Amino acid sequence: MAIKSCLLVLPLALLLLGGSPPPAAAQLEVGYYSKTCPNAEAIVRNEMNKIISAAPSLAGPLLRLHFHDCFVRGCDASVLLNSTNGNKAERDAKPNRSLRGFGSVERVKAKLEAACPNTVSCADVLAIMARDAVVLAKGPTWPVPLGRRDGKVSSATEAADQLPPAFADVPLLTKIFASNGLDVKDLAVLSGAHTLGTAHCPSYADRLYNFSSGHSADPSLDSEYADRLRTRCKSVDDTATLSEMDPGSYRTFDTSYYRNVAKRRGLFQAYYNIVDVFFVIRVHANCQVYARIA
Ligand code: HEM
Repeated sequence: MAIKSCLLVLPLALLLLGGSPPPAAAQLEVGYYSKTCPNAEAIVRNEMNKIISAAPSLAGPLLRLHFHDCFVRGCDASVLLNSTNGNKAERDAKPNRSLRGFGSVERVKAKLEAACPNTVSCADVLAIMARDAVVLAKGPTWPVPLGRRDGKVSSATEAADQLPPAFADVPLLTKIFASNGLDVKDLAVLSGAHTLGTAHCPSYADRLYNFSSGHSADPSLDSEYADRLRTRCKSVDDTATLSEMDPGSYRTFDTSYYRNVAKRRGLFQAYYNIVDVFFVIRVHANCQVYARIA
């Protein structure tokens, strides 16, 4: 029960991300489309059922799309805009090159346009799809306040500056999250989204090869786990190989990601030097997850 209530913080914190949209945004509200497009959420859910049953591994990418959208200019769907001759858009920034699921968003939006033309914003579509992705991955559900406005500005430079890099340490992550109105607890809880999905080899290969002058591999990484990773990720230049971020249950929204981190089996340097692991555990002690992962 304690674990469940802790996991519920993730979507709630995600909703907070919806609280920092561009200045022109109206107040968000649950049921925002009840008069203008009463079936909006049912339409999204229906399409999401089809999308995730055909490709269960898309749940993670669709959740990540919402996060990457929200951290640059608020949740305004600017991550969906294409680059133009004079402008390199967010989605072409380095941290966004591994984003997936754009086709699914287009598919859902097309269904909504057919039912209710020019009514439901793309930013709201991303927020609803993220919630449904979590639910369909056997995670919790939550009501999504709606009414976000879509932005027209999308800058690759802003995305590169504002999204957290894989190598970030806790102080940097704390700073980035604080600039989005989120605290360290939000940071630790939201990182639990890595219970879903996969990562490309270059996102963590530095931890396996030539880590520092004294160590070829990151000493904070469990050595057995590092050996296993090396059998998949053969070099820092291997851009094709994917690894599950929560090995064994990367399609299920559960707490095993935290258990892995506690055993120093987290993929990214971001939190996972030994001090950071204790930091994550301490923060999670508030939600009593510690009792389960220790
Ligand atoms: C806290 C700082 C975070 C860092 C440094 C970080 C970093 C990363 C990196 C490097 C990847 C792998 C990209 C690749 O190699 O393909 C990734 C994947 C992912 N991230 Fe994060 N992330 C963070 C927070 C979040 C948050 C807050 C969420 C959602 C609420 C999230 C959701 C995901 C998901 C679902 C994937 C897997 C995507 C897939 O399967 O394609 N991440 N993240």
